Amino acid sequence: MKNLHFGVDYYPEHWEKKRWETDAKLMQQMGIQMVRMAEFSWHKLQPEENIYDFEWLDQAIALLGNYGIRTIVGTPTAAPPAWLIQKHPEILPVDRDGRVRGFGGRHHDCQSNPIYREYIRKLVTKMAQHYGENPLVIGWQPDNELGNSHQDLCTCESCRQQFQKWLKKKYQTTDSLNKAWGTAFWSQEYNDFSEIPAPRITVTGENPSTMLDWKRFCSDLIIDFTEEQTQIIRKYAKNQFITHNYMGFANKVDYYKLGELLDFVSHDQYPGGFYLPETPHEKNHVLAATLDIVRSYKQQPFWIMEQQSGITGWEIMGRAPAPGQLSAWSLQSIAHGADAIVFFRWRTCAMGTEQYWHGILPHSGIPGRRYEELKELVLTMSPVMNHLAGSMPKPQVGIVFSFEQEYAFQIQPHHKDLSYTKQILKYYQALYQQNIPVDFVPEQGNFDKYKLLVAPLQYLMSPDLEQKYMDYVQNGGHLILTMRTGVKDRNNLCMTDQELPGKLRELAGIEVLDYDCLRDAHVQVLFQGQQFQADIWSDLMRLLPDTKVLANYASEFYTGEPCVTQHPYGQGICYYIGTQPGEDLMRELLTIICQTAEVTPLNPAIEDVEFMVRENENSQFLFVINHSNETKSYSTPELYKLLRGVQAGILAAYEVQILERTKNK
Ligand code: GLA
Ligand code: ZN
Repeated sequence: MKNLHFGVDYYPEHWEKKRWETDAKLMQQMGIQMVRMAEFSWHKLQPEENIYDFEWLDQAIALLGNYGIRTIVGTPTAAPPAWLIQKHPEILPVDRDGRVRGFGGRHHDCQSNPIYREYIRKLVTKMAQHYGENPLVIGWQPDNELGNSHQDLCTCESCRQQFQKWLKKKYQTTDSLNKAWGTAFWSQEYNDFSEIPAPRITVTGENPSTMLDWKRFCSDLIIDFTEEQTQIIRKYAKNQFITHNYMGFANKVDYYKLGELLDFVSHDQYPGGFYLPETPHEKNHVLAATLDIVRSYKQQPFWIMEQQSGITGWEIMGRAPAPGQLSAWSLQSIAHGADAIVFFRWRTCAMGTEQYWHGILPHSGIPGRRYEELKELVLTMSPVMNHLAGSMPKPQVGIVFSFEQEYAFQIQPHHKDLSYTKQILKYYQALYQQNIPVDFVPEQGNFDKYKLLVAPLQYLMSPDLEQKYMDYVQNGGHLILTMRTGVKDRNNLCMTDQELPGKLRELAGIEVLDYDCLRDAHVQVLFQGQQFQADIWSDLMRLLPDTKVLANYASEFYTGEPCVTQHPYGQGICYYIGTQPGEDLMRELLTIICQTAEVTPLNPAIEDVEFMVRENENSQFLFVINHSNETKSYSTPELYKLLRGVQAGILAAYEVQILERTKNK
């Protein structure tokens, strides 16, 4: 897909056919090369059980093809039609309260339901046979945002049986399951796998080991659901790619594993936020981190399958992106590794839930400010994109990100404000503020290419992972370990054979003998003669030989005791941070730790200006992004030539400059 870089999400089925050609012309004029279509149009493709109608989609694909526009086909399995639900209501999902969720939104489905799966097999087979060799179709997106809308679903009888099967495969006997889950507590022993429930809301509390396996099972179910579709598509579509639109740090499915089914990963980027209480307007470092995690899932360039192109919002709306801001956000995606940007959506929809989730065109369909801005972006960036394609950032710092740790903290957050992902983002933010690029790394990943590895909250531990951390530091790596490391085994049972953090005591050079959960409290920390604030947690520790104290607690009954330590091990250094540092302390600590590890920032910090680099064997591409509505300046590095921008070093509001330096060979 070397030369395809810009597209739109298009819903021809929402508009009269006579409009389609106008759309195609307008798309062509703004340089659009591809569309994604059909991912919610099950009823249009199969209006009744025995009637399949691909005619409308064929026409749309052909018409767009006349204007040089290619198609990515979405399978419409996120929106099973009413006739199917009426005939087989057992497809509807059941939440943890045991309530059936009704028809009328989307993803009203149980992904393990055999009847639903049978209908999907038939439909996807027909679609793959029909489009698998169409030269205008370049690729596929099975379903849509898998895991979205599935947060507490599904606990139906079918899922229960599948869960039992999954457990039987994992544990073989109920004896070993009982041991792994610690079911002696509250008389939860199972005599037979058939007794095990899909975890519904209980009267009191939950078994953390059961819940961890349940979350693993739910993730595996989504992967199995997807794989059934990818196998069918691959059979008939030999020269078309398969991707899927991820949602950054969303955690219902292990995105590393899902990525194994895909040619490349895609992602939906909405900097304006979703306007739900739990997702406020995203901060710049969160946007950057989101793009970095998406690149990291497969360690390769990715696509944006939905890039914000107007005001976001369903019932409640967000702010209007300022002139230049949509382009800046798109270029930020590119800076972090996107090889293609597909805008959501072409035209603002006149009906349904998303009437106010704005597209490039307004309701009227008449091109306006957003069309003109993005047209300029697409036309000027298309040649640059050819040049950038395949290049990658090469960060010196890795942050370990694990879905299993995330699940374990969802089950037992310890503190009402502790979240695994949020703590990861706090470490990320301190690096981002210093213009230090970051990769995320799975626990199974390659640590050795990073000078500094940050591994917050390594709560679930295994002997293999312990050894990996020890080898990494032994060989010269610098590692940050934190509070709540090595607390549990992989069954979510507490470790009992040693003091915390288990074998990693040798590496960190400390022993945690007690701790304090800072409920409704902060703790003061003294670092380099200055007082800082930390929160959530205090580990109270004893030093082992050779360990140096970097910071001490300065309040509570443990005033004066070590809070942050540094321990030489082999050729490297292990740091241990026993609390959740506040923003200032985090920044100070990471500045020093990065300096010691010889990690080099891309540029000194400039407020609201982001620096990022992509590179390939020939060139380095430096992106400089002004996230503010004020003019900013930076000193241009030597030997760079300006690929995008008006005057190198001077950034107008929301301007993004791209500079290229050819590598000496
Ligand atoms: C998601 C979905 C789209 C659309 C947008 C806007 O990212 O994939 O179908 O719903 O959000 O809400
Ligand atoms: Zn179910």
